[in-house]
Amino acid sequence: MTDSSRIATARLGANGPEVGVQGLGCMGMSFAYGPSDADESRATLERALELGVTLFDTADAYGAGENEKFLSPFFNAHRDEVVIATKFALAIPPDDPTRRVIRNDAPYIRQAVEASLRRLDVDVIDLYYMHRRDVNVPIEETVGTMADLVREGKVKQLGLSEVTADELRTAHTVHPIAAVQSEWSLFSRDIEANVVPAARDLGVTLVPYSPLGRGFLTGSFAKAEDLTTDDFRRQQPRFTGENAAANAALLDPIRTVAESHGATLGQIALAWVQQRASVHGLPIVPIPGTRRPGRVAENTAATRIVLSEDELALLEPIAGKVSGDRYADMSFASAGRE
Ligand SMILES: NC(=O)c1ccc[n+]([C@@H]2O[C@H](COP(=O)([O-])OP(=O)(O)OC[C@H]3O[C@@H](n4cnc5c(N)ncnc54)[C@H](OP(=O)(O)O)[C@@H]3O)[C@@H](O)[C@H]2O)c1
Repeated sequence: MTDSSRIATARLGANGPEVGVQGLGCMGMSFAYGPSDADESRATLERALELGVTLFDTADAYGAGENEKFLSPFFNAHRDEVVIATKFALAIPPDDPTRRVIRNDAPYIRQAVEASLRRLDVDVIDLYYMHRRDVNVPIEETVGTMADLVREGKVKQLGLSEVTADELRTAHTVHPIAAVQSEWSLFSRDIEANVVPAARDLGVTLVPYSPLGRGFLTGSFAKAEDLTTDDFRRQQPRFTGENAAANAALLDPIRTVAESHGATLGQIALAWVQQRASVHGLPIVPIPGTRRPGRVAENTAATRIVLSEDELALLEPIAGKVSGDRYADMSFASAGRE
């Protein structure tokens, strides 16, 4: 492999490490997107690292700890090369393992970090995110507890997922926040109004999740019925009924741009996020999720695609025409609280 196939790097927060400019979302390897092949997932992790991907994204909620356990041997085999990001906040109530309750309180965070460290089998988590915001706990308290974990050496950097701009600003007064993780793609641009400018002003790196619109932007599925019955996306408003049909038609301009670059639709979607961030003037590390080595190579190659002003203009109206919210319950997302 030539050095030129390795991706560039970006800084994670003002004082954080340099990481590959694209990370890898590992959620689908254990959770949410139908059946996975463990050997293929492992090959995907190795291929990603070869290509310069160093930020690997998981959460305690992905498969109720199974994703962290699955990743542990890979992380430990490459401990000095990988930056491990995991998250807390989606608690499983003891009386009903099918439900999730958002918890940001200190006793819960302390229990969650110990459980993640144990499952990952590491001494320290490189980037620890609050996955979802529990509005009943002041954000100062939550970040105060997270900052204690940094002082105790259990965690290196702090991140927040799906926070509003105000929550981010308040959090940052308690302890520097290295990264904000939120959905950002050609289909989901709500964070551009407030969260992205706040992150830029504070020197926080943006980590866009679902940059491929959960796979829809690649054209690999067109409606909920194309997915296996256990696939979480079957419940998402954008992929069901009339919304799905209307949204599939929105891929046409992406197809046009892809053809002119000899690229795939997914590559154009990824190149767009990367370029949109330079318009806003802040560092980003998108974390497309895949379980297939060939797709990692395809996705990382997208970091080298440059879109013209005309192409950006053609793609600009897409998000405004999307039918359906990105979650069935938008209080689950920052935009539901702004
Ligand atoms: N903070 C949060 O609340 C939150 C929420 C959602 C996700 N995340 C994180 O963000 C990561 C990425 O988000 P996501 O997985 O939801 O969505 P995504 O990255 O937009 O899309 C992932 C989907 O696209 C498919 N895919 C990937 N590359 C492809 C390619 N080149 N061609 C065709 N299909 C391709 C994947 O299938 P295969 O796997 O079969 O390739 C998977 O079904 C997750 O893994 C997770 O770590 C965080």
